[in-house]
Amino acid sequence: MIDQLLSKLKRNKAVVGVVGLGYVGLPLVREFIRGGAKVIGFDLDPAKVKTLMAGRSYIEHIPSATVKQMLRGRRFEATTDFKRLSRPDCILICVPTPLTHMREPDMTYVEATARQISPRLRKGQLIVLESTTYPGTTREVMLPILAGSGLKVGRDFFLAFSPEREDPGRKDYSTRTIPKVVGGYDRNSLKAATACYRIAIDTVVPVSSCEAAEACKILENTYRCINIALVNELKVLFDRMGIDVWEVIAAAATKPFGFTAFYPGPGLGGHCIPIDPFYLSWKAREYGLATRFIELAGEVNLAMPHFVVAKLMDALNQRGKPLKGSRVLVLGMAYKKDVDDMRESPSLELVELLKQRGARVDYNDPHIPKTPRTREHDLRMRSVPLTAGRLKRYEAVLISTDHTTYDYQFIVDHAKLVIDTRNATKKVTRGRKKILKA
Ligand SMILES: NC(=O)c1ccc[n+]([C@@H]2O[C@H](COP(=O)([O-])OP(=O)(O)OC[C@H]3O[C@@H](n4cnc5c(N)ncnc54)[C@H](O)[C@@H]3O)[C@@H](O)[C@H]2O)c1
Repeated sequence: MIDQLLSKLKRNKAVVGVVGLGYVGLPLVREFIRGGAKVIGFDLDPAKVKTLMAGRSYIEHIPSATVKQMLRGRRFEATTDFKRLSRPDCILICVPTPLTHMREPDMTYVEATARQISPRLRKGQLIVLESTTYPGTTREVMLPILAGSGLKVGRDFFLAFSPEREDPGRKDYSTRTIPKVVGGYDRNSLKAATACYRIAIDTVVPVSSCEAAEACKILENTYRCINIALVNELKVLFDRMGIDVWEVIAAAATKPFGFTAFYPGPGLGGHCIPIDPFYLSWKAREYGLATRFIELAGEVNLAMPHFVVAKLMDALNQRGKPLKGSRVLVLGMAYKKDVDDMRESPSLELVELLKQRGARVDYNDPHIPKTPRTREHDLRMRSVPLTAGRLKRYEAVLISTDHTTYDYQFIVDHAKLVIDTRNATKKVTRGRKKILKA
């Protein structure tokens, strides 16, 4: 079986299936098509499938022209018909891995996908999980469900884990140029997965097991989570000491070795950094160990929106205004600059905290015209226009996300008070007295 699959992959005759056509799945489809493969995309959401098949995109940084190009020459097809899972030679799984309300791993999407594949699993197929998860998921969650097919892993079908490293909005690296770590269940699975990714990705980095590949992704995100917590904690301390944390980080970053700059902010956002480390904490408990760095980082980062709101309240107080009844404009609803993704965005928390304290809150975000419902929040708000007249109406303007399209001098010129959580106003020259970093 393995020789047949490897030969197909070598000749680029293998059909690739991608399950979950979101922020991760869709760019992956694009790269396999660019690499010359034929791709079938599977998603539960009929609206997404319909949009793609009509040649349109629902992700801001993937233009509709790219989708049209993907559809050309019948190289790509999107479907909700999971019976067709038996067709692809390689199935790459990019479904969500969120946390439950109890902040535990929610494996329901991964399990559901394995259950969709299992009855259709055929000899010679390669299954790769890409969703970020704790070490052990591929072996302990995926394999038992797939083995229910009666086929034997390593002989009849192949199983691997390869973490997605997508960073939406990044210009210097793309899905193709970000090296891809691959861990196989066994030697054959590793060979198959490595050959598969070589179609689409410039550099494939094999590791010894699925667990090593799973742990690699969690290490990367935990490293970010902890370093962001460190600078967030220092931000609070330096603020009290009258030192500008952004100036300090810029100075430290001039050291050519031994220091990587991370930046403070209003809290942690996105689908990865606030969530993935807790997958590892959860798993660590099975081994009787605590992940104290992760817990501490979570605690520090979760406190950030409260710090920002306290700074805003203090600043209003100085001006003889209570937060209750004051109008506040939040700039940026996305979790980071220049993206249209607001999952876990700290702006959501900021809006909630401000509203709970009686503020009248609006937001502007050129990438998010209205707030979609998320698992924790349903704000039902629409982005308001950013005009001089409007800016003047608010007691405070709170910069939560530093989109590059914002004209920060214009904002400061017309606002009464600007709370800047991202050092976005660093180049503003007029009206600096109105700016408070938080
Ligand atoms: N977004 C990122 O930047 C990023 C980066 C690295 C890793 N990841 C990881 O990649 C995984 C996917 O994240 P995403 O951002 O692409 O999520 P997403 O929500 O954008 O996309 C997931 C897609 O899967 C579909 N789906 C859900 N259940 C399904 C099922 N059973 N069968 C078929 N389709 C199903 C959803 O409809 C959705 O279109 C997660 O584990 C995430 O942690 C994301």
